Amino acid sequence: MKKVRLLLATLLLVFPLMMQAGDFTVGHKTFLLNGEPFVVKAAEVHYPRIPRPYWEHRIQMCKSLGMNTLCIYVFWNLHEPREGQFDFTGNSDVAEFCRLAQKNGMYVIVRPGPYVCAEWEMGGLPWWLLKKKDIRLREQDPYFMERVRIFEEKVAEQLAPLTIQNGGPIIMVQVENEYGSYGEDKAYIAEIRDCLRHLYGAKQTLFQCDWSSNFELNGLDDLVWTMNFGTGANIDEQFKRLKQLRPDAPLMCSEFWSGWFDKWGANHETRPAKDMVDGIEEMLSKNISFSLYMTHGGTSFGHWAGANSPGFAPDVTSYDYDAPINEYGGTTEKFFRLRKMMQKYSKEPLPAIPAPPAMMISIPPFELTERADIILGADSLVMNSPLLTMEEMGQGWGSMLYIATLPEITSESVLTLNECHDYAQVFVDTAYIGKIDRVRNEKSLRLPAVKKGQELRILVEAMGRINFGRAIKDYKGITESVTLTTEQDGHELSWNLKRWNIFTIPDNLATARRALDLAQRDSSSMFNFQSSIFKGSGYYRGYFTLKKTGDTFLNMEAWGKGQVYINGHAIGRFWSIGPQQTLYVPGCWLKKGKNEIIVLDVVGPSLQAYAPSITNALKLTSTRKIPSQRAPRSSSAASSAPSAASSAPSVTLSEVERSLSPSLFSQNHPELDKLNTEKSRLHNNPADCPDLNSATPVVEGQFAPGNGWQTIRFNGSKRGRFVAIQALSSQSEKPEVAIAELYVRDADGNRLSRESWTVEYADSEEINRGNFTGDKVFDLQESTYWQSARKSPLPHLLVIDLGSEQTISALDYLPRAESSAPGSIKNFKIFVY
Ligand code: GLA
Ligand code: CA
Repeated sequence: MKKVRLLLATLLLVFPLMMQAGDFTVGHKTFLLNGEPFVVKAAEVHYPRIPRPYWEHRIQMCKSLGMNTLCIYVFWNLHEPREGQFDFTGNSDVAEFCRLAQKNGMYVIVRPGPYVCAEWEMGGLPWWLLKKKDIRLREQDPYFMERVRIFEEKVAEQLAPLTIQNGGPIIMVQVENEYGSYGEDKAYIAEIRDCLRHLYGAKQTLFQCDWSSNFELNGLDDLVWTMNFGTGANIDEQFKRLKQLRPDAPLMCSEFWSGWFDKWGANHETRPAKDMVDGIEEMLSKNISFSLYMTHGGTSFGHWAGANSPGFAPDVTSYDYDAPINEYGGTTEKFFRLRKMMQKYSKEPLPAIPAPPAMMISIPPFELTERADIILGADSLVMNSPLLTMEEMGQGWGSMLYIATLPEITSESVLTLNECHDYAQVFVDTAYIGKIDRVRNEKSLRLPAVKKGQELRILVEAMGRINFGRAIKDYKGITESVTLTTEQDGHELSWNLKRWNIFTIPDNLATARRALDLAQRDSSSMFNFQSSIFKGSGYYRGYFTLKKTGDTFLNMEAWGKGQVYINGHAIGRFWSIGPQQTLYVPGCWLKKGKNEIIVLDVVGPSLQAYAPSITNALKLTSTRKIPSQRAPRSSSAASSAPSAASSAPSVTLSEVERSLSPSLFSQNHPELDKLNTEKSRLHNNPADCPDLNSATPVVEGQFAPGNGWQTIRFNGSKRGRFVAIQALSSQSEKPEVAIAELYVRDADGNRLSRESWTVEYADSEEINRGNFTGDKVFDLQESTYWQSARKSPLPHLLVIDLGSEQTISALDYLPRAESSAPGSIKNFKIFVY
């Protein structure tokens, strides 16, 4: 009996490792796995967003949801951090991730880009491509294509041996990513296809994913076409066009969005569990394959979080995504509801939910007693130089310090940074003047009168590079010019500052440690004069001791803005504006005993962070006084008169000051939903509301009900900077209206760029039950929308500022993607002024 058990156990262990060479092909209305019909139930997970020691746990979690496949991107900039230097080790060992998938009986879909989007820095493209100023990204630019080929070859060295034809788990490989929302360029897509075809072989199933509204733009005849859409979408509608074009093709939703990503300074995003489960159930009941994006989002550690555009909306560090498996690998309500439904579509009982690999711990407050000024992180310097971007200085991530000598300006002037990428703090000598924040579309601030020879110092911190749309060519630092303008005696005077001393301050562990070590060694001397210059900004180091390790959430609420390193691991960015206030620290990166933490805070911690230390200082002052009061008692001249205390050695102010350090603590649960912004996110300032009473609309009428794009042509063209859409009635009885996307067309009927769009006014925006502000109509995402607040009465008004005057001949309107398109507008008026 024992022997049989042993044999069985060995077989069970070994069997998944010996998957036979097989094939995965396209049959009649279905995929075929080794000739048998197969529904792909894929879980999207990203290996760099999970610490390697937890990979297997997360894979097993996906499996316990009833998934049979993992879907992964391959992140070019992770694997080629410097041109020609490749890394496929440690947390970047993508082949090992695939082998672990296979070991656990899962297939793999690989999406090797070169572009991946994914709310990942520059959509996965390496920053160093930008050193070639005229590079055309994601096009047939010779240099771009050469680097793509080299990268794809390196990836294929890792992964081609793992295709199903070679006995590995990889069943499908994706060509590019959602190219339809970037442009129309079949020649480029064909070149990427040929490259992958060559590397993965003639039998490999290659596919391309896009939206139902735009997949025809770049669809190649010999590739499988899959659709991406989110929770709640009208599924039949999403596949309608594909079915017309290819009635015999298998259907697959290659990204079914379980939730959504969060951006700094905007509401936390969630999507209802029911909609997600219902959508997947509908697909399964119709034999439609799917990949649930994300099934487990994880964390964009270090500087890997990207940013959305138009505008600049950097993503937070957590990539929880409101996914069924949460950021730290735990179960959620969505998880259990999904698992229950998935069980119905599985012949076998679903595998047990694996035990979490770590327990949750919290760490009581501890002080970070070492500090180094941020200037100690400077790594290179050019003098008397024209303005240079961070890329021109050869730096990928971090901050830049720009210093120029000022001319004499006897009155206030306006300082304009053209453009500031991304968060600038402006100083005149040591005086802090203010910030210019790209997230808020800020470009300038007022400078007081200055004397000739004073220094203008601009500290610019870069956040993640834009990962979506044409704006991915996102240079950092100050990209073009710095000007000062003022008025004197009715004349406008202006200066274009051209001679700069420029420091680079890289965002990496070695720099932070070097700065702190330098400051420790040399606490008294030359660098101290700097300490007052940049407010409280700088590197802070502390240590905490653990008896047992576990997953934990570092509370950063009292700190400003920056980056955290623990035991050498880059944990991620924090920013007090939220909504994310805690950083996930995986227990596998902690150790028993002493742990090191370094915080780079470019703004500086708030007073609140000093509270424990102030309490200690107060104790210190009082304990010092007590013995001096008691002392006389033991002497014969005993006296407890208050005057005795004044003669006691008291603590000096500088002693107290030096004893003050900011502190940190961690908790056993995350805080992802606490916004702390200075300005309301609503666009309902009455002063911005146009008076449309006597205005004549360029067009009025009725939108048709239902899903899909509609174009409304004007009677001729009209010039103007603002477009106002007035919703007079809705297609249902409800007063709420919603718009997913809008475009306007020029006189020739071409869609105008929306790069410079902002919301001028919206009478009503729902922000209490989700994130439905006006800017969602031009965020390039068809699954997100503007919606008027619940029960707020009709009519509703949304005004877009196009950024400059334009000639407009038509408007494209997309209602919500769910069936019956909730919130659809019926009667409308459109104004241009
Ligand atoms: C698209 C992209 C993904 C991701 C999602 C949004 O579908 O293909 O990489 O950016 O949007 O999370
Ligand atoms: Ca949208």
